[in-house]
Amino acid sequence: MKIAVYPGSFDPMTNGHIDLIRRGTELFDQIIVGVLENEDKKPLFNTDERVEMVREALLDLPSVRVQSFTGLLVNFMKSTHANVVVRGLRAVSDFEYEFQMALMNRELSPTVETIFMMPAVEYTYVSSRLVKEVCRLGGDVTRLVPQNVLVKLHERFGAPA
Ligand SMILES: Nc1ncnc2c1ncn2[C@@H]1O[C@H](COP(=O)(O)OP(=O)(O)OP(=O)(O)O)[C@@H](O)[C@H]1O
Ligand SMILES: [Mg+2]
Repeated sequence: MKIAVYPGSFDPMTNGHIDLIRRGTELFDQIIVGVLENEDKKPLFNTDERVEMVREALLDLPSVRVQSFTGLLVNFMKSTHANVVVRGLRAVSDFEYEFQMALMNRELSPTVETIFMMPAVEYTYVSSRLVKEVCRLGGDVTRLVPQNVLVKLHERFGAPA
């Protein structure tokens, strides 16, 4: 069984995340989306809401599970019996941080491999941060997030006029 973990904040999940997960289901028997709790980063949505949004958006993918975690990713990997980390690269700007994290995780757990995937070109500029910012200012993000996330964003910020 090839089990991969796709870790992130998913605050909230975007169509970029979903694009990556769909691609991943072609490569792995199971993908565990690991929603990092990090409440001290003051996320817009709490952990339960983020987990629920991911779960709802991926109901049609039976090989995907969603779980929250705290602390070190390598410890979460051990507890799930996964040995592959999936991360996304949108642009060169993602590279430096991702490269550093991947090598630190290898230092902590030499058997864990990190795999990088590229999204479809139309999602290369999409980030959770930007989606929240645009939505807060009244911009339309309909094409950038799944329907259930759009509903939650509009609950928080109001629907665009
Ligand atoms: N549109 C996207 N295409 C490809 N990879 C993505 C995309 N958005 C996020 N990722 C990747 O998914 C992983 C988890 O990302 P994360 O939850 O931090 O989302 P994010 O959009 O980067 O959020 P934030 O804007 O809060 O940093 C990271 O490896 C990130 O590079
Ligand atoms: Mg990010």
